[in-house]
Amino acid sequence: MKKVDFDDMKNRVAVLTGGAGVLGTSMAEGLCESGVKTAVIDLNREAAINLSERLNREYGVETIGLEVNVLDKSSLQEARDSIIERFGKIDYLINAAGGNSPKATTKLEQIEPGNVNDITEGFFGLDAESFRQVFDLNFMGTLLPTMLFGKNMKERGSGVIVNISSMSAFSPLTKVPAYSAAKASVNNFTQWLAVHFGKTGVRVNAIAPGFFLTDQNRFLLTDKNTGELTARGEKILANTPAGKFGQPEDLKGALLFLLSDMSSFVNGVILPVDGGYSAYGGV
Ligand SMILES: NC(=O)c1ccc[n+]([C@@H]2O[C@H](COP(=O)([O-])OP(=O)(O)OC[C@H]3O[C@@H](n4cnc5c(N)ncnc54)[C@H](O)[C@@H]3O)[C@@H](O)[C@H]2O)c1
Repeated sequence: MKKVDFDDMKNRVAVLTGGAGVLGTSMAEGLCESGVKTAVIDLNREAAINLSERLNREYGVETIGLEVNVLDKSSLQEARDSIIERFGKIDYLINAAGGNSPKATTKLEQIEPGNVNDITEGFFGLDAESFRQVFDLNFMGTLLPTMLFGKNMKERGSGVIVNISSMSAFSPLTKVPAYSAAKASVNNFTQWLAVHFGKTGVRVNAIAPGFFLTDQNRFLLTDKNTGELTARGEKILANTPAGKFGQPEDLKGALLFLLSDMSSFVNGVILPVDGGYSAYGGV
């Protein structure tokens, strides 16, 4: 009988994209707490190196921090070579690089009789190039690392990929059409790849975080000056049965579960970590 704990994770090797971000940092801590050797790869070189050094100091686990652009194949290839040279293998890939852009965000939630002439505030004011950039970062930024690092996993006949999706993937959130469509495509791709890799020993799942107060959304959800909830922040909390925002640490357990052999028969799921948001119909 298989023992049920996270011990199998010790000395495995994880690649974490966007690893120096707010949620990435917490996930990196969770990995190191479980003895996983961790490569923090991020566009922000200094942040990736600083985090890697701190993790190494605090947890005594081997880590590496690398500047990588998830949209640049040669940058990813270089990173893969450095990681293989340093650790000899790659067991886990967590695709956490992602985000939104103000230029791909509408000011209006809906077109209504009172604002019908505010053409730049709604859908028709969106900048198509920014739309593409958001789509690229979230979707292509998941696809390209998966192609690169997934190949090593397939060749070894084992590995786990976890994509970081969002609540906006299930039903799109108002104002963020590019981000919502891109994260929906991440869900769809997660399921497609789980099937495609179904007999290879490589599993593919996703986590859909609910609402976490982070740098990306702090001033959408709270007022910059007063710290009070904005109308949008209030709406979100009213629709979150837990009645609070998530803390980055809340993602750790879900991530470790999906990576460890405890979930060895779990493949192609999108696991919400959302305080019940996605289960609630609003009434
Ligand atoms: N914050 C939330 O409430 C929330 C909710 C749901 C989903 N998410 C998703 O979780 C993930 C992490 O979000 P976060 O809040 O920690 O964001 P964050 O902005 O703090 O972190 C994102 C990290 O990705 C890096 N990055 C950006 N572009 C990159 C590129 N081209 N190549 C490599 N790295 C790049 C950034 O430097 C940053 O360190 C994202 O995919 C985000 O969409 C966040």
